[in-house]
Amino acid sequence: MRGLSGLNALVTGGASGIGLATAWLLAACDADVAVLDLDPSAVPEPLRGYRADVSDDDMVRTAVDAAASDLSGLDIVVNNAGIGAVGTVEDGDEGQWHRVFDVNVMGVVRTTRAALPHLRASAHAAVVNVCSIAATAGLPQRALYSASKGALQSLTLAMAADHVREGIRVNCVNPGTVDTPWVGRLLDQAADPAAERAALNARQPLGRLVSADEVAAAIVYLASPAAASVTGAALAVDGGMQGLRLRPAGQ
Ligand SMILES: NC(=O)c1ccc[n+]([C@@H]2O[C@H](COP(=O)([O-])OP(=O)(O)OC[C@H]3O[C@@H](n4cnc5c(N)ncnc54)[C@H](O)[C@@H]3O)[C@@H](O)[C@H]2O)c1
Repeated sequence: MRGLSGLNALVTGGASGIGLATAWLLAACDADVAVLDLDPSAVPEPLRGYRADVSDDDMVRTAVDAAASDLSGLDIVVNNAGIGAVGTVEDGDEGQWHRVFDVNVMGVVRTTRAALPHLRASAHAAVVNVCSIAATAGLPQRALYSASKGALQSLTLAMAADHVREGIRVNCVNPGTVDTPWVGRLLDQAADPAAERAALNARQPLGRLVSADEVAAAIVYLASPAAASVTGAALAVDGGMQGLRLRPAGQ
């Protein structure tokens, strides 16, 4: 795939998983790509790494401005950095609830605020937020995480409305369970990792986890001029988990 030549992109959380796959695909499409991450030291060329914690406004502004200066502008922002939380509404102290919202919601606010002056100067400006199936389906033991991703999906719609007349499109992708280091860590913690993986595979009608590359392809589509008429959309990349209601196999 080609077609993003001359466009500059910034991907938060781009040192691992979905973010790294997205940064690679953007670069393969000839975009110039900056990765903002807690630890960008292992980010391979031609990606450019910038160290920042999206929960720290000064770090975010410094990193976004440095990336925009080095790349000579910003056209695409992928708000991908995020953290998980396991438990019901009874679990986690207030500090944990504030921490997850600070990264998963406020991190998007900080990064987008810092990037907007640069995006306004672009003829092909696009923001893609990485949301989740947890925003649209009730999943057990994901109360805090789901609340943060539900907020992010609503924020996506509000941002799309606010900036449409400035020529800035805003969309989100809603992945199902994706085979990334994050999910690997969750499986490692399970009492029976093989059984847990089988249960996650079975929860998605396609019968397997989504790959990071499949989510990256959806993000790059939404970020690209090919999606010039798409704004305020949520694109599920979830193996059918949100939209399909199958009968049990064999019935
Ligand atoms: N893996 C899944 O099943 C899945 C499903 C739906 C949505 N998502 C979302 O996709 C996004 C990426 O998930 P992943 O599975 O690729 O995770 P990952 O853990 O493999 O990668 C996340 C990256 O974000 C970075 N990061 C975390 N906190 C940060 C912070 N405060 N500031 C800057 N960078 C930070 C990490 O260093 C890491 O490089 C997250 O927003 C997650 O909620 C993941």
